[in-house]
Amino acid sequence: MKVLKMSEVNLNQQRVLIREDFNVPIENGRVSSDVRLKAAIPTLKEAVSQNAAVIVLSHLGRPTEGIFTPEFSLEPIAKRLSELCPTIPVHFVRDWLSGVEAKPGEIVLCENVRFNEGEKNNVLALAEKMAKLCDVFVMDAFATAHRAEASTCGIAELAPLACAGPLLVAELTALTKAFNAPEHPLAAIVGGSKVSTKLEVLSALIEKVDVLILGGGIANTFLAAKNYFIGASLYENALVESAKRLLKLADEQKVTIVLPLDVVVATSCSADAKGEIKLLDAILDHEMILDVGPKTRSHIDAVLKSMKTIIWNGPLGVFELESFSQGTKALAYSIAQSSAYSLAGGGDTLAAVEKYRVQDDISYLSTGGGAFLEFLEDKKLPVISILEQRAIK
Ligand code: 3PG
Ligand code: MG
Repeated sequence: MKVLKMSEVNLNQQRVLIREDFNVPIENGRVSSDVRLKAAIPTLKEAVSQNAAVIVLSHLGRPTEGIFTPEFSLEPIAKRLSELCPTIPVHFVRDWLSGVEAKPGEIVLCENVRFNEGEKNNVLALAEKMAKLCDVFVMDAFATAHRAEASTCGIAELAPLACAGPLLVAELTALTKAFNAPEHPLAAIVGGSKVSTKLEVLSALIEKVDVLILGGGIANTFLAAKNYFIGASLYENALVESAKRLLKLADEQKVTIVLPLDVVVATSCSADAKGEIKLLDAILDHEMILDVGPKTRSHIDAVLKSMKTIIWNGPLGVFELESFSQGTKALAYSIAQSSAYSLAGGGDTLAAVEKYRVQDDISYLSTGGGAFLEFLEDKKLPVISILEQRAIK
């Protein structure tokens, strides 16, 4: 990989637009896990110390484009950022596409890029507007490097100068080193609620791992593929056939797929919902699977004990709610206690790692979730190709 790095660019008095991944959990209007913010702060401080006028872009969640929804506003993130950088003025702007006033030595955080129509599909006219805001574009959002969107790829092609930020470079270097020749047996744990986007990476993971442990919405889709009745659980009906193919592929490759043996169900996903432990054949129509059960927790613990490398992305249940947190909590402890080389990544995963205070017992923490899974697939991250192209021009 040969890309221009931010450290090689003179940022003095320049309008420097930095794409970060501030897709962090927000609870009651406050940032509840700021690991991704803290990871980006050295980049922002470096640009500010070079007297750049710093403009920061990020997405949050998956809002409907063209519609402002307060739930997806970056305002709480601006607040947390200014607390984390007390010596730097941090401003927040809601309307920014037609121009941003940024002064050297200050940071302006712009409202959620995904409120703009055309962001997801990398529409040229939108990327052009973004590119006009800056002299230098810094791609630093490793966790969004697998998405070809206007604020990642479009702008990287069109900005006067485009380079890679320190966080992006550090993540790529560390992950390349860690996964050059991983020690086997290797287990990957994939959970979370982003079923469709993660299902795509599983076939590539099956080629690399010895054990694949599934939880969350992804596991539900596999349970449906195995003809279990999963009631009102989150799953993707359209992907049941793909899940069947993946089960067959795993069988052929002699990869063990670990699915929940028992689960915690409730009739609503809320703080006051009461969880009930059930075996897979006892789930009723109106019940939702919201966590794995105790049998599954012990089984996963036993499986992980014999691993030499463990990769973790995605919680096993709705761990933000106490009643559905036991699976993810036990998993965090199992990984922390294991002597394997362990790597955990992703917004929710980092939040869980923080919540259960296992940061120091995991070998490497990545800000990327989907991005690091795709990186492990040996898939070229689209924005890296663009930065490489621009470096040779
Ligand atoms: C993530 O949390 O994995 C990144 O922020 C990307 O978010 P996305 O899956 O909504 O594109
Ligand atoms: Mg995430």
